[in-house]
Amino acid sequence: MTAGGSSIPEVQSLLSTLAVGKRCAEAGTAYGEGALAIAKTARSLVTVEIDESRAEIAKARLRGRRNVELIVGDWHDALPPRAPFELLFLDGGAFKRAPSEEGSLAIELLGVGGMLVIDHLTPGLAGHDPARESLLGHPELVARELRTTLRTAAIVAARRDRPWLSRRDPLRATPRAHAWTSRDRRAPSPRGSAASS
Ligand SMILES: C[S@@+](CC[C@H](N)C(=O)[O-])C[C@H]1O[C@@H](n2cnc3c(N)ncnc32)[C@H](O)[C@@H]1O
Repeated sequence: MTAGGSSIPEVQSLLSTLAVGKRCAEAGTAYGEGALAIAKTARSLVTVEIDESRAEIAKARLRGRRNVELIVGDWHDALPPRAPFELLFLDGGAFKRAPSEEGSLAIELLGVGGMLVIDHLTPGLAGHDPARESLLGHPELVARELRTTLRTAAIVAARRDRPWLSRRDPLRATPRAHAWTSRDRRAPSPRGSAASS
């Protein structure tokens, strides 16, 4: 997640690739550079920016893109009524400060197989990294960390279908047999649900 500026070209290129033909959303438009990269290949894009002056600049950049809806507001309010999405670039708000809460809200916006992208992570960061761990170990996601440059990384995560199947014998597990609780979010599967590079 970039600290208030625009996404880097490497991430924009990743976004264009992942967005092909998809219903996409972006939380945090800033000046519209990431949005433009997504819009070039997406079926549709809803992008939300809370800062009016930034949104004005983005609006000019995205003018004429008929597959883009640019909303000035808070993504927490604007995106849920328009969900589900097949690709969500989560690039504005409090994810790094509150990764579990923000990540869970973001996952709710995805359909099964829908992809979440978070950028500007620091590869090989020593010690506990709640932002990275909250995605790579999340039971509802299959996640992969990718280097975008020598100094930056992104996580691409896809929402799973029926995550309890990864923890149980698939022949015995049924949705009804599993009582879903908030504990599931805090107890990621020790294997199989995530990988880091
Ligand atoms: C890192 S920039 C976004 C860069 C942009 N995605 C790109 O690829 O060029 C983060 C933006 O998120 C906006 N933002 C922060 N909180 C937000 C919220 N709750 N809803 C919408 N936008 C938000 C900030 O104003 C800032 O412009």
